Amino acid sequence: MGKKLFIETLGCAMNVRDSEHMIAELGAHEDYELTTEAGEADLIIINTCSVREKPVHKLFSELGALNKSKKSGAKIGVAGCTASHLGKEIITRAPFVNFVLGARNVSKITEVIHRDKAVETQIDYDESQYAFKDFRSSPYKSFINISIGCDKQCTFCIVPHTRGEEVSIPAELVVAEARKSVARGAKEVFLLGQNVNNYGRRFSGAHEKINFTGLLRLVSEIEGLERIRFTSPHPLHMDDAFLEEFARNPKICKSMHMPLQSGSTELLRRMKRGYSKEWFLDRAKKLRSMIPDVSISTDIIVGFPGESENDFLDTLEVVGAVEFDQLFSFKYSPRPHTEASHYADTVDEELGSRRLAHLQDYHNAILDRRSGRMLGKEVVVYFEEAKENGFISGRSDNNLLVRVQGDASLLGTLRRVQIIHTSRLSYEGRLLG
Ligand code: SAH
Ligand code: F3S
Repeated sequence: MGKKLFIETLGCAMNVRDSEHMIAELGAHEDYELTTEAGEADLIIINTCSVREKPVHKLFSELGALNKSKKSGAKIGVAGCTASHLGKEIITRAPFVNFVLGARNVSKITEVIHRDKAVETQIDYDESQYAFKDFRSSPYKSFINISIGCDKQCTFCIVPHTRGEEVSIPAELVVAEARKSVARGAKEVFLLGQNVNNYGRRFSGAHEKINFTGLLRLVSEIEGLERIRFTSPHPLHMDDAFLEEFARNPKICKSMHMPLQSGSTELLRRMKRGYSKEWFLDRAKKLRSMIPDVSISTDIIVGFPGESENDFLDTLEVVGAVEFDQLFSFKYSPRPHTEASHYADTVDEELGSRRLAHLQDYHNAILDRRSGRMLGKEVVVYFEEAKENGFISGRSDNNLLVRVQGDASLLGTLRRVQIIHTSRLSYEGRLLG
């Protein structure tokens, strides 16, 4: 009988894909099947995130609880960014942990499970051309990595330390993955990287010159593929050619993530983001003028060292001007191995929390005001999930979460829908035709 695998995935879409890779390798080579019950698993993996400090603290209490409730003889592994960053310290602090597998080492999963106390966290390990076995959590869309690691040195961010140097995955492999997904029935691909529009700067072997705009064109030529999404692009690399391809190419979904981080040019400089408030506003304005219904989401950090009241007001000003459709906001969390963790002019914790609440209230008011704008409009929805009470939900091209009354035959189809009810984050529609 097959063994059972329980895997918990924290953090970003790249971690989701890393988990799929581990599930695929363990299924193909070790006969593991997934379970949602940690208590019945033979192997428990936590795929961790280390971008902020809180989840790292929580990890150890969670590990303790899992160790108590696990089946006798079950193994526990810690994978992902916290594994990269803490390495063998994890086993020192939680001696029952059987292995530690860094974010850039997931292809070694079938080996580490057989080596007790294995710690594999090699930061320059190159998995950019590893042929992972196939596992997809969704039949409707596929996550496809286009690069690993990150070459930026944003002064707040631990990711370059946990995922290492940026390496692009050869375009032909990306296209082959996308073709395979389409052949399997998926109509949407989600291209993934820490900094997707820096694509093509470095390959691990010789490769003809291609940038992200070129890759988007190539992928969009695949017959049967209807939708392309990607995350995350960097505002600095949003040149005209990229924005114009984004606007022009009908397969590219009209939803852009533009991680602002701060609206203050001075703070952006201290964060080493490489763009100014004006550049960001100009890029957002260009997008909105080319594509009136485009949705723009963002990430913002408040309470970064040195953030003055005026810096924070700059952030509010950009939020007010761009009217983001979705905002992910965080209080700054000092991280080891980052430049900003040495900055002396820290912002008081409580002030940081107040600013965070203020920013979120301000943005919620914008969402409340804007949500009505889609009322009566027609959108195309790709249906992916059956909900309660006879609803089926999916995403519009511009990333609105839309549900309609319908049955499971809608799943995996793209349908025209008219929006009949709107709220801050979800929409209800009726099928047209
Ligand atoms: N390029 C990545 C960014 C990873 S981190 C991506 O594609 O998703 C995701 C977000 O976490 C960042 O955009 C930033 O807003 C936030 N973040 C990163 N480091 C942080 C820190 N030290 N404190 C608070 N938030 C942080
Ligand atoms: Fe982090 Fe900046 Fe890269 S946020 S992942 S260092 S682009």
